[in-house]
Amino acid sequence: MSKSSRRSFLASSAAAGAAMSFTAKSYAQVPGANARVGVGFLGVGGRCQQHIDVILKMRELNKPVAPVAVCDVWDGQVVANLIRGRGLYPSAERCGLNRDDRNHVSKDYRKILEQKDVDVVCIATPDHWHARMAIDAMQAGKDVYMEKPMTRTIAEAIAVVDAAQKLNRVVTVGVQSMADPTWLAANEYVKAGNIGHVLQGQTSYFRNSSVGQWRYYPLTREMSPTTVDWNMWLGHAFKGVDDQPLGPTPAQMPFDRAVWAQWRCYWPFGGGMFTDLFVHQTTHLIAAMGLKFPGRVTGGGGLYMEYDGRDVPDVATVVADYEEGCQVIISATMLNDVQLGETIRGHLGTIKFSPTGRADYLKGFEVYGQYPAGGPSKPKDADSKPIHEYVNPKFASPKNGVEDSATYALWDNFLECVAAKRRMTLSTPELGAAAFSTVNMGANSYRNGKVYFWDKDGRAPKEADSSWATKLEARSKKRDTPSQVQGWTGGDRGSKLVPPAYQRLEGPWVNGADPAPAGN
Ligand SMILES: NC(=O)c1ccc[n+]([C@@H]2O[C@H](COP(=O)([O-])OP(=O)(O)OC[C@H]3O[C@@H](n4cnc5c(N)ncnc54)[C@H](O)[C@@H]3O)[C@@H](O)[C@H]2O)c1
Repeated sequence: MSKSSRRSFLASSAAAGAAMSFTAKSYAQVPGANARVGVGFLGVGGRCQQHIDVILKMRELNKPVAPVAVCDVWDGQVVANLIRGRGLYPSAERCGLNRDDRNHVSKDYRKILEQKDVDVVCIATPDHWHARMAIDAMQAGKDVYMEKPMTRTIAEAIAVVDAAQKLNRVVTVGVQSMADPTWLAANEYVKAGNIGHVLQGQTSYFRNSSVGQWRYYPLTREMSPTTVDWNMWLGHAFKGVDDQPLGPTPAQMPFDRAVWAQWRCYWPFGGGMFTDLFVHQTTHLIAAMGLKFPGRVTGGGGLYMEYDGRDVPDVATVVADYEEGCQVIISATMLNDVQLGETIRGHLGTIKFSPTGRADYLKGFEVYGQYPAGGPSKPKDADSKPIHEYVNPKFASPKNGVEDSATYALWDNFLECVAAKRRMTLSTPELGAAAFSTVNMGANSYRNGKVYFWDKDGRAPKEADSSWATKLEARSKKRDTPSQVQGWTGGDRGSKLVPPAYQRLEGPWVNGADPAPAGN
């Protein structure tokens, strides 16, 4: 591709992800704040070790932040090369905390929330605990970095959004790809009308494993009811937003190492690949397309090969349709790792996101033109030259180690927002709730054999009927103009058909009269 055939595009403002960095200077401006942001980690299992890495690195770089508390219901265990520093006491040690300080090293998260030197909490428990902890933390005056999926149910996601708005707390949902500026750069490009009317987006998260998805999380003999507070892990004594227990009782689900360590395989604690993996992809894709909640969702799939006692499917696809006049497809199997490729299709162009990148960052995206003519085009197997290219600045300028991770960048943005008391993080709960609701409706569609509409007024899913298709057919008869994605400034660019001249001959023959105008 010649250089002249490309227009390199450096996205502006938000699109460049050019959020200010979190510094001692920015934090010093927060009235009445502690001298530094104290972070309390709730659920210091596998994922949380990366969050601890980030905070330790920031402290090394003299940012005003420190790990001040850890909570886990598991004592923890250090197994070289198998389980790095996971669990309560190994994580306390990593954070430089005294294991006998029961206020800051605890199995009960409520103890951590009582501490004045805990300014923000990082929630990295299994999904069924996210909402309860986030809401309790906000009520205790803390800001929240919560892992994806934001919650386990849609009602919980809505409750977290409402709590964040009402209590004016800063919340970021840990979809680290939102710190990759590529997605917002694509959104700027899309909104301006450059690919014409947006019709379809696709994404995928295909994987393969010989042992079965998530069975590669090891079980050890030391994982037992002696080292794990199983009641607290299940959460059955705690009520969720629907007034139901957070999890089953030990009588319903006795301690089992596989449930404890490989909880993603079981519905009571997560949503399988629908919510574990699809939520990553859906969040950044809908952000790029300019979408939030879907109009209509269906989910398919099945448990076709991983017959190892799990609940969740090994092949799944979600199809979400939007009032904005487009569709999103999210698909995967856990038994073959060839991706569909992340793509946005418009009437005048196709955005193809680079399948490869460096560390957590994509190389960027390329746009291929569409040249609709009077007849149908043939299916294409090869790309022409791109008409546009976006090169991700993060791809071009690597940093060292953990500093180069998107998780670090998301934390940096979150802490800067905490310092500025600004709710607009790179991964807001409002976006998180929309993405989560989409994939959760897909999971429920698969499980319940139903199709769902999003009820905007009720802010909840409801069973679908035929009105989606009939409404659209009625718009066609009315010769309506298409709806557009959110923030659209492209006018009718790429959004209008060019009817052939002979189309003026159409029309019903009423009483045998030709409706066509006279002449040729
Ligand atoms: N953003 C990402 O890329 C990414 C990657 C992995 C995991 N995650 C998310 O992080 C979360 C944790 O996943 P993981 O792989 O670390 O799981 P994990 O099982 O390794 O760790 C979870 C920890 O939470 C603890 N826990 C459970 N209930 C608790 C309670 N009531 N109080 C305190 N601690 C409790 C468990 O004992 C365990 O140590 C999940 O929501 C997952 O989806 C995100």
